[in-house]
Amino acid sequence: MINSKRYKTAQARLQKRDSRLIDKYLYSMRLSDETLKDIMNRFRREMEDGLGHGTNPTATVKMLPTFVRSIPDGSEKGDFIALDLGGSNFRILRVKVTQDKKQPVQMESQVYETPDDIIHGSGTQVRALELFDHVAECLGDFMEKQKIKDKKLPVGFTFSFPCAQSNVLEYAAKTGKIILTWTKKFKASGVEGTDVVKLLNKAIKKRGDYEADIMAVVNDTVGTMMTCGFDDQRCEVGIIIGTGTNACYMEEMRHIDQVEGDEGRMCINTEWGAFGDDGSLEDLRTEFDREIDRGSINPGKQLFEKMASGMYMGELVRLILVKMAKEGLLFEGRITPELLTKGKIETKHVSAIEKTKEGLKKCMEILTRLGVEPSDEDCLAVQHVCTIVSFRSANLIAATLGGILSRLKENKGVARLRTTVGIDGSLYKMHPQYARRLHKMVRRLVPDSDVRFLLSESGSGKGAAMVTAWCLTCLKCMLLQKAFSFFLPRNRHFHET
Ligand code: GLC
Repeated sequence: MINSKRYKTAQARLQKRDSRLIDKYLYSMRLSDETLKDIMNRFRREMEDGLGHGTNPTATVKMLPTFVRSIPDGSEKGDFIALDLGGSNFRILRVKVTQDKKQPVQMESQVYETPDDIIHGSGTQVRALELFDHVAECLGDFMEKQKIKDKKLPVGFTFSFPCAQSNVLEYAAKTGKIILTWTKKFKASGVEGTDVVKLLNKAIKKRGDYEADIMAVVNDTVGTMMTCGFDDQRCEVGIIIGTGTNACYMEEMRHIDQVEGDEGRMCINTEWGAFGDDGSLEDLRTEFDREIDRGSINPGKQLFEKMASGMYMGELVRLILVKMAKEGLLFEGRITPELLTKGKIETKHVSAIEKTKEGLKKCMEILTRLGVEPSDEDCLAVQHVCTIVSFRSANLIAATLGGILSRLKENKGVARLRTTVGIDGSLYKMHPQYARRLHKMVRRLVPDSDVRFLLSESGSGKGAAMVTAWCLTCLKCMLLQKAFSFFLPRNRHFHET
């Protein structure tokens, strides 16, 4: 184990010998406050383009209307099934929402493996159907285990991909959630441009052993905002920092050109992962970012996500280490087949390496497994690399979140913004320093604000149940008020195809 004396000696030697060289490599990953403010402004412009009627069709940040008009008010209740597909795991949950003050939400959940060949697809329509057959099969298994196969419980579906829709109430619409494009690891062919609800309903019907009512399909950001909103009515932003990254927030209806009506607010799924796909972040992308993109399943797409989210962070570190080793800056130039293997350093390793106490020991273990025979100085240098990469991610997300917060502040016309941001995602939750760094930078970038960050304790799956509960309440209200016209889209783009 590296004790503190050894650590100090190694640190002194490292400082003399290597730190300048490391910084030379990673100089472009250190973002000044000036640059971050600039990114924040660039993102604000992208948001405006996504919202505007004339600019939306070509905008990279899609700003998708979700048709969620308010957050839960606590009156929601019922027994729901929630599916959660698109994060690190595929989960199915049973969520009971009651009026019980002590324990308003009870949950049971199960994680299901999704085989890689189903996730990646293979160029035939068959694969797409297989993905939904798999979801339907797992749902059947879950209902069997819960002994509810004979019931027809309302199902909420957290589907964490960019989707256009005409209505959040899929129950009323029966269809309407059109997937625009796959992101992250998913690439099942034949799904893009089709209706997710229809695909799932078809798969369930084909089995014929149970029935399900898909009531609502929501993005995980929306699920997170709704879950946190259940506990804190001030919550008006939801963000995910996990395998992928994205955010939603409550926008004024008068600014959303794609949807009819000017009164009140609606939740917008920004899909900020695509920020930069039009070249607007080119000056900030490094050779390592370009390499990540080239080796990905969707080159040229989700460029901001590739710089910041958990799916790519470990790989970014690995690429940097390979280059440094090649130049003799690390491991005395030793390069092993393991070090050269894609995916050998994962984001969870970066999190472990950055732990204050056992970080260096972990680093030694991880590097030893890669066969590079690291010295104490190597471990410190690698820790330094990890810090720069994960710090950049927190800073980049602080900048885009800052863009949303400053817009909220302007929308409200207040001198000081008081708001709550609901957050979820494996990187945010698991990395030892990430949350602190993010919060600090957000407060620096949006100084006139009191921002509360609320961790969504039970993941976006609960959010799907919350939205389903909320939908039921809305549906009842709407039927009473005959207010359906409220939800009709202005833009044909959001109609069913
Ligand atoms: C990707 C998806 C987005 C999702 C995010 C977090 O960016 O496109 O819909 O919210 O990952 O899971």
